[in-house]
Amino acid sequence: MTAFDQVVLSTQRLLLRPLAAADAGALMAIYADPEVMRYGSSPPWDSIEKADAQIVRDREAMAAGHFLRLGLQRVDDGALIGTCTLFNLDPPCRRAEIGYALAVSAWSRGYMREALPALIDFGFEAMDLNRIEADIDPRNTASTKSIERQGFVREGYLRERWIVQGVFSDTALYALLRSDWQAQRRKVALG
Ligand SMILES: CC(C)(COP(=O)(O)OP(=O)(O)OC[C@H]1O[C@@H](n2cnc3c(N)ncnc32)[C@H](O)[C@@H]1OP(=O)(O)O)[C@@H](O)C(=O)NCCC(=O)NCCS
Repeated sequence: MTAFDQVVLSTQRLLLRPLAAADAGALMAIYADPEVMRYGSSPPWDSIEKADAQIVRDREAMAAGHFLRLGLQRVDDGALIGTCTLFNLDPPCRRAEIGYALAVSAWSRGYMREALPALIDFGFEAMDLNRIEADIDPRNTASTKSIERQGFVREGYLRERWIVQGVFSDTALYALLRSDWQAQRRKVALG
Protein backbone atom coordinates (compact mmCIF):
# COMPACT_ATOMS: atom_id res chain seq x y z
CA MET A 1 0.00 0.00 0.00
CA THR A 2 1.37 3.46 -0.93
CA ALA A 3 1.84 5.87 1.98
CA PHE A 4 0.22 9.31 1.61
CA ASP A 5 1.71 11.12 4.61
CA GLN A 6 4.36 12.88 2.50
CA VAL A 7 2.07 13.98 -0.35
CA VAL A 8 2.36 17.66 -1.27
CA LEU A 9 0.58 19.16 -4.29
CA SER A 10 0.71 22.72 -5.47
CA THR A 11 -1.51 25.02 -7.49
CA GLN A 12 -1.18 28.68 -8.37
CA ARG A 13 -2.34 29.99 -5.00
CA LEU A 14 -2.34 26.92 -2.77
CA LEU A 15 -0.18 24.27 -1.24
CA LEU A 16 -2.05 21.01 -0.56
CA ARG A 17 -0.23 19.22 2.24
CA PRO A 18 -0.78 16.81 5.14
CA LEU A 19 -2.05 18.39 8.34
CA ALA A 20 0.32 18.82 11.29
CA ALA A 21 -0.26 19.25 15.03
CA ALA A 22 0.21 23.02 14.64
CA ASP A 23 -2.87 23.16 12.36
CA ALA A 24 -5.29 22.23 15.16
CA GLY A 25 -6.42 25.83 15.82
CA ALA A 26 -7.09 26.62 12.15
CA LEU A 27 -8.83 23.27 11.63
CA MET A 28 -11.02 23.87 14.69
CA ALA A 29 -12.01 27.31 13.35
CA ILE A 30 -13.22 25.70 10.11
CA TYR A 31 -15.08 22.69 11.54
CA ALA A 32 -16.60 24.54 14.52
CA ASP A 33 -18.38 26.92 12.16
CA PRO A 34 -22.10 25.99 11.79
CA GLU A 35 -22.13 27.47 8.28
CA VAL A 36 -19.38 25.08 7.14
CA MET A 37 -21.12 22.13 8.84
CA ARG A 38 -24.58 23.10 7.60
CA TYR A 39 -24.95 20.01 5.38
CA GLY A 40 -22.63 17.67 7.29
CA SER A 41 -23.76 14.48 9.00
CA SER A 42 -21.98 15.45 12.23
CA PRO A 43 -22.44 18.58 14.37
CA PRO A 44 -19.95 21.48 14.43
CA TRP A 45 -16.90 20.68 16.56
CA ASP A 46 -17.09 21.88 20.14
CA SER A 47 -13.52 21.34 21.37
CA ILE A 48 -9.94 21.60 20.14
CA GLU A 49 -9.43 17.94 21.16
CA LYS A 50 -11.51 16.97 18.11
CA ALA A 51 -8.96 18.70 15.87
CA ASP A 52 -5.98 17.16 17.71
CA ALA A 53 -7.51 13.69 17.46
CA GLN A 54 -8.36 14.03 13.78
CA ILE A 55 -4.81 15.12 12.95
CA VAL A 56 -3.37 12.08 14.77
CA ARG A 57 -5.88 9.70 13.13
CA ASP A 58 -5.19 11.17 9.70
CA ARG A 59 -1.43 10.74 10.09
CA GLU A 60 -1.83 7.05 10.90
CA ALA A 61 -4.34 6.38 8.14
CA MET A 62 -2.27 8.30 5.58
CA ALA A 63 0.95 6.52 6.53
CA ALA A 64 -0.91 3.24 6.02
CA GLY A 65 -2.28 4.43 2.66
CA HIS A 66 -5.89 4.04 3.79
CA PHE A 67 -6.98 7.62 3.35
CA LEU A 68 -5.84 10.99 2.02
CA ARG A 69 -6.68 14.35 3.58
CA LEU A 70 -4.70 17.43 2.57
CA GLY A 71 -4.86 20.85 4.16
CA LEU A 72 -5.21 23.81 1.78
CA GLN A 73 -2.57 26.33 2.71
CA ARG A 74 -2.74 29.71 1.01
CA VAL A 75 0.66 30.53 -0.47
CA ASP A 76 0.27 34.30 0.06
CA ASP A 77 0.01 34.33 3.83
CA GLY A 78 0.51 30.69 4.87
CA ALA A 79 -3.04 30.45 6.28
CA LEU A 80 -4.74 27.06 6.42
CA ILE A 81 -8.09 27.77 4.73
CA GLY A 82 -9.56 24.31 4.15
CA THR A 83 -9.15 20.62 3.50
CA CYS A 84 -9.86 18.15 0.73
CA THR A 85 -10.10 14.41 1.11
CA LEU A 86 -10.18 11.11 -0.73
CA PHE A 87 -11.78 8.60 1.63
CA ASN A 88 -13.63 5.28 1.65
CA LEU A 89 -10.91 3.91 -0.61
CA ASP A 90 -11.79 0.61 -2.25
CA PRO A 91 -8.48 -0.55 -3.81
CA PRO A 92 -9.86 -3.73 -5.49
CA CYS A 93 -12.40 -1.60 -7.36
CA ARG A 94 -10.04 1.40 -7.64
CA ARG A 95 -12.72 3.67 -6.18
CA ALA A 96 -12.82 6.48 -3.57
CA GLU A 97 -15.10 9.26 -2.32
CA ILE A 98 -14.20 12.94 -2.38
CA GLY A 99 -14.90 15.54 0.30
CA TYR A 100 -13.85 19.14 0.95
CA ALA A 101 -14.44 22.19 3.14
CA LEU A 102 -13.28 25.79 3.20
CA ALA A 103 -13.31 28.43 5.92
CA VAL A 104 -16.23 30.78 5.22
CA SER A 105 -13.81 33.72 4.90
CA ALA A 106 -12.30 31.94 1.86
CA TRP A 107 -15.58 31.12 0.06
CA SER A 108 -16.39 32.49 -3.38
CA ARG A 109 -12.80 33.14 -4.38
CA GLY A 110 -12.38 30.03 -6.53
CA TYR A 111 -10.02 28.24 -4.12
CA MET A 112 -11.85 24.91 -4.22
CA ARG A 113 -12.17 25.18 -7.97
CA GLU A 114 -8.38 25.48 -8.04
CA ALA A 115 -7.66 22.72 -5.49
CA LEU A 116 -9.97 19.98 -6.75
CA PRO A 117 -8.22 19.34 -10.10
CA ALA A 118 -4.91 18.77 -8.26
CA LEU A 119 -6.55 16.27 -5.90
CA ILE A 120 -8.44 14.54 -8.71
CA ASP A 121 -5.28 14.29 -10.84
CA PHE A 122 -3.48 12.72 -7.91
CA GLY A 123 -6.35 10.27 -7.41
CA PHE A 124 -6.43 9.11 -11.02
CA GLU A 125 -2.68 9.14 -11.62
CA ALA A 126 -0.66 8.44 -8.46
CA MET A 127 -3.41 6.44 -6.74
CA ASP A 128 -4.55 4.80 -9.96
CA LEU A 129 -8.24 5.24 -9.14
CA ASN A 130 -10.82 4.56 -11.80
CA ARG A 131 -13.84 6.20 -10.15
CA ILE A 132 -14.31 9.04 -7.65
CA GLU A 133 -17.72 9.48 -6.03
CA ALA A 134 -19.29 12.51 -4.35
CA ASP A 135 -22.24 12.29 -1.97
CA ILE A 136 -23.85 15.74 -1.97
CA ASP A 137 -26.82 17.18 -0.12
CA PRO A 138 -28.91 18.51 -3.02
CA ARG A 139 -29.58 21.70 -1.01
CA ASN A 140 -25.84 22.42 -0.98
CA THR A 141 -25.66 24.57 -4.09
CA ALA A 142 -22.01 25.64 -3.74
CA SER A 143 -20.88 22.03 -3.39
CA THR A 144 -23.08 20.90 -6.29
CA LYS A 145 -21.60 23.59 -8.51
CA SER A 146 -18.07 22.80 -7.33
CA ILE A 147 -18.38 19.14 -8.27
CA GLU A 148 -20.27 19.68 -11.52
CA ARG A 149 -17.58 22.14 -12.59
CA GLN A 150 -15.04 19.30 -12.40
CA GLY A 151 -17.19 17.19 -14.73
CA PHE A 152 -18.79 14.88 -12.15
CA VAL A 153 -21.98 13.28 -13.48
CA ARG A 154 -25.10 12.97 -11.36
CA GLU A 155 -25.91 9.25 -11.34
CA GLY A 156 -28.53 8.85 -8.69
CA TYR A 157 -30.74 10.27 -6.01
CA LEU A 158 -30.99 8.52 -2.65
CA ARG A 159 -33.85 9.62 -0.45
CA GLU A 160 -33.48 10.32 3.29
CA ARG A 161 -30.01 8.76 3.39
CA TRP A 162 -28.75 10.98 6.23
CA ILE A 163 -30.07 12.73 9.28
CA VAL A 164 -28.62 16.25 9.16
CA GLN A 165 -29.28 18.28 12.29
CA GLY A 166 -32.30 16.15 13.06
CA VAL A 167 -33.76 16.33 9.55
CA PHE A 168 -33.89 13.43 7.08
CA SER A 169 -31.73 14.52 4.15
CA ASP A 170 -31.31 13.22 0.63
CA THR A 171 -28.14 12.44 -1.32
CA ALA A 172 -27.37 13.37 -4.91
CA LEU A 173 -24.76 10.80 -5.91
CA TYR A 174 -22.17 12.02 -8.38
CA ALA A 175 -19.19 10.25 -9.94
CA LEU A 176 -16.26 11.02 -12.19
CA LEU A 177 -14.55 8.25 -14.14
CA ARG A 178 -10.90 8.29 -15.06
CA SER A 179 -11.97 8.13 -18.73
CA ASP A 180 -14.24 11.22 -18.26
CA TRP A 181 -11.34 13.12 -16.71
CA GLN A 182 -8.88 12.11 -19.42
CA ALA A 183 -11.38 13.11 -22.13
CA GLN A 184 -11.86 16.54 -20.47
CA ARG A 185 -8.10 17.00 -20.28
CA ARG A 186 -7.69 16.13 -23.97
CA LYS A 187 -10.44 18.61 -24.87
CA VAL A 188 -8.72 21.40 -22.89
CA ALA A 189 -5.33 20.54 -24.42
CA LEU A 190 -6.80 20.70 -27.93
CA GLY A 191 -8.38 24.08 -27.11
C1 LIG B 1 -18.45 23.76 -1.13
C2 LIG B 1 -17.40 24.84 -0.93
C3 LIG B 1 -16.04 24.22 -0.69
C4 LIG B 1 -17.35 25.72 -2.19
O1 LIG B 1 -16.30 26.64 -2.00
P1 LIG B 1 -16.22 28.07 -2.72
O2 LIG B 1 -14.83 28.54 -2.78
O3 LIG B 1 -17.22 28.99 -2.12
O4 LIG B 1 -16.60 27.68 -4.14
P2 LIG B 1 -16.61 28.63 -5.37
O5 LIG B 1 -16.38 30.06 -4.98
O6 LIG B 1 -15.70 28.04 -6.40
O7 LIG B 1 -18.13 28.48 -5.76
C5 LIG B 1 -18.56 27.31 -6.37
C6 LIG B 1 -19.77 27.66 -7.21
O8 LIG B 1 -20.91 27.76 -6.35
C7 LIG B 1 -21.51 29.04 -6.48
N1 LIG B 1 -22.00 29.39 -5.15
C8 LIG B 1 -21.27 29.61 -4.06
N2 LIG B 1 -22.10 29.84 -3.03
C9 LIG B 1 -23.37 29.74 -3.49
C10 LIG B 1 -24.66 29.87 -2.93
N3 LIG B 1 -24.82 30.13 -1.61
N4 LIG B 1 -25.75 29.72 -3.72
C11 LIG B 1 -25.61 29.47 -5.03
N5 LIG B 1 -24.41 29.30 -5.65
C12 LIG B 1 -23.30 29.45 -4.87
C13 LIG B 1 -20.42 29.92 -7.01
O9 LIG B 1 -20.96 31.01 -7.75
C14 LIG B 1 -19.66 28.98 -7.93
O10 LIG B 1 -20.34 28.82 -9.16
P3 LIG B 1 -19.52 28.63 -10.51
O11 LIG B 1 -18.69 27.37 -10.36
O12 LIG B 1 -20.58 28.52 -11.54
O13 LIG B 1 -18.65 29.86 -10.63
C15 LIG B 1 -17.76 25.75 0.28
O14 LIG B 1 -19.01 26.32 0.04
C16 LIG B 1 -17.75 25.02 1.61
O15 LIG B 1 -16.72 24.82 2.24
N6 LIG B 1 -18.95 24.60 2.08
C17 LIG B 1 -19.07 23.94 3.40
C18 LIG B 1 -18.54 22.52 3.38
C19 LIG B 1 -19.26 21.68 2.37
O16 LIG B 1 -20.45 21.82 2.17
N7 LIG B 1 -18.51 20.75 1.77
C20 LIG B 1 -19.03 19.85 0.78
C21 LIG B 1 -19.63 18.67 1.40
S1 LIG B 1 -20.19 17.55 0.12
